[in-house]
Amino acid sequence: MRQADFDTTDLRRAFGTFLTGVTVVTTRDESGAPCGMTANSFTSVSLDPPLVLVCIGNGSSNITAFEATDRFAVNILGHDQTDVATVFSARGVDRFATIVHEEATTGAPILTDCLGWFDCRLHQRVIAGDHLILIGYVEDLQIGQRPPLGFCRGRFVNLDATVSPGMPAK
Ligand SMILES: Cc1cc2nc3c(=O)[nH]c(=O)nc-3n(C[C@H](O)[C@H](O)[C@H](O)COP(=O)(O)O)c2cc1C
Repeated sequence: MRQADFDTTDLRRAFGTFLTGVTVVTTRDESGAPCGMTANSFTSVSLDPPLVLVCIGNGSSNITAFEATDRFAVNILGHDQTDVATVFSARGVDRFATIVHEEATTGAPILTDCLGWFDCRLHQRVIAGDHLILIGYVEDLQIGQRPPLGFCRGRFVNLDATVSPGMPAK
């Protein structure tokens, strides 16, 4: 096998140059308590069937809940929610204590003030290196209008700016 001439720090920095949105992926643990974490690994996968994915690190304190769950929600954060992203990536705090949330159709927690969300049944679970890929079948969604929160090179990015036309709207 070819010996890589980069190390994990280079790889992490290279991954970090790819601009993403920011989500909080949520589920319930075995006791029914809400749990979740900030994740920028969210990707849309398929329109028909409607599929999305998110990657959960093996070292996450939530890994047991995500390994066992058959439902999860992906909450897309708005440009004004850096505080929510910070809370849901901090260790040793009660992440849901200060964040208003409700229950989606599947029972997964939805963050009430987020930009939009996907409520998912588990479609497939894939072990990939040091992450668990959860592929979800979208059962319900909410579409938001305000600008999204971005993330690039380890920093939050405010995307509240005029953008040029991309894909034609259908
Ligand atoms: C912007 C941002 C994006 C993140 N994306 C992911 C991700 O996609 N997958 C992941 O496992 N952790 C991700 N993390 C790290 C987790 O949010 C969390 O900090 C880490 O898993 C430690 O907390 P935990 O052990 O309770 O999960 C991200 C953190 C930040 C701030």
